[in-house]
Amino acid sequence: MQIDPWSSSTYQDYARLRDEFGIEEFSKKQWKTLPHPHRLIRRGVVFGHRGFSLIQDAVQQQKPWAILTGLMPSGRMHLGHKMVIDEVIYYQSIGAEVFIAVADIESYGTRGYSLKETKKLAIEEYIKNYIALGLKKENCQIYFQSKNESVKDLAFLLGKKVNWSQMVSTYGFTGSTNMTHVLSPLIQTGDILHVQLSKFGGVRPVLVPVGVDQDPHIRLSRDIAQAHRLFNVTKTKDNRIGVFVKPDDHVPALLDHAEDLLKGLGYQKLQRITEYKALYIDDAEKKDISLIDQHLAVSEPRFDGYGFIAPSATFHRFMTGLTGGKMSSSKPESAIFLSDTPADAKKKIMQAKTGGAVTLEQQKKDGGNPDACMIYELMLYHLIDDDQELQTIYQACRNGSQMCGVCKKKAAELMERFLSDIDEKRKQADDVIDEYLAK
Ligand code: TRP
Ligand code: SF4
Repeated sequence: MQIDPWSSSTYQDYARLRDEFGIEEFSKKQWKTLPHPHRLIRRGVVFGHRGFSLIQDAVQQQKPWAILTGLMPSGRMHLGHKMVIDEVIYYQSIGAEVFIAVADIESYGTRGYSLKETKKLAIEEYIKNYIALGLKKENCQIYFQSKNESVKDLAFLLGKKVNWSQMVSTYGFTGSTNMTHVLSPLIQTGDILHVQLSKFGGVRPVLVPVGVDQDPHIRLSRDIAQAHRLFNVTKTKDNRIGVFVKPDDHVPALLDHAEDLLKGLGYQKLQRITEYKALYIDDAEKKDISLIDQHLAVSEPRFDGYGFIAPSATFHRFMTGLTGGKMSSSKPESAIFLSDTPADAKKKIMQAKTGGAVTLEQQKKDGGNPDACMIYELMLYHLIDDDQELQTIYQACRNGSQMCGVCKKKAAELMERFLSDIDEKRKQADDVIDEYLAK
């Protein structure tokens, strides 16, 4: 099985997907130390992660960290797209520095939009809505891939440690795939890793919240980050923890440096074996590995390395479309767009698929099924932030005391209020948009 980031496939069995691709479960253990966790996190919509503990530690120890996301300017922004920015805004509120890539090169290479069209779409459909939703300009910059020299340079340079068969087996590229499309995962890797260049704040943990379709890009970025490191810290087969120098040049100097650094951290039982390019740390424990690795990473730029810390990622479920399939810009009746009028949205909600029984009588007797209901999903993802209130609706549906007509009306009202509020705020966004865009 392969995940294709450019297909329109839907995913049902997230637990299976997680296991198959080695994504870890985003359990309460992972997020319980976050301040006032966002509803998408509390409610399990964010279901998986890679390397989130680095973020958890950074938040807890109030160390610098960044969040990076990208938007694909192709079509109108709908509620499915809103999730990622909701997460970003939450993380910004707890101290993350924010970077947002406009994937104009990707959209040009894979969707056939011109750069001019993507610019207009990005601003009108996405960035204005991001601002209206509450993205703050402090500690935030939005840039276009096609205008970011660092991102493009990295795409070329990082490609050195990926080969064609890897690209084919990850993405299914063929002889007729156009080269801009082929390059787009490397540009995305450039997006994800460039924020750790000194010019953009230096080596630090970075979180990339995505839908699970983006996992191939996440894996590629993590592999590439590792591949370009100068040091590797691991536990060996004979159960010793060691720092290993990866390149073949300057080994003694790099070992000197590692030794100084580890002594500085208080380790004493160090054994150096230059032929193995190794420095063993016999008084380190497994749980120290990540910290030692981070210290080494931060120091790598002094030795002409990048020192990229493998980026962390979280994965969220996709929203189901209102009509049952995927929520998609190309099927307007399946999605609520942020620029829909309240009246349009109401109409779509009234026609949406519910988990109600065939007759009222039967629903009173057996209850409805909120787990298969698009109205309930709208409330869960977007409309109702109070867990208690949501729980009450869930119970009332299950026990047959709440009927779909009333429930839809409530959802429609909440949605109408949300859309008119957003529309108002979007108008004000016009004046401030320049303050968000990278110069
Ligand atoms: N490929 C993403 C999409 O299809 C857009 C994107 C570009 C992105 N660069 C990124 C997403 C970096 C996350 C991180 O939506
Ligand atoms: Fe969905 Fe509400 Fe009907 Fe239950 S009562 S199935 S939650 S619309």
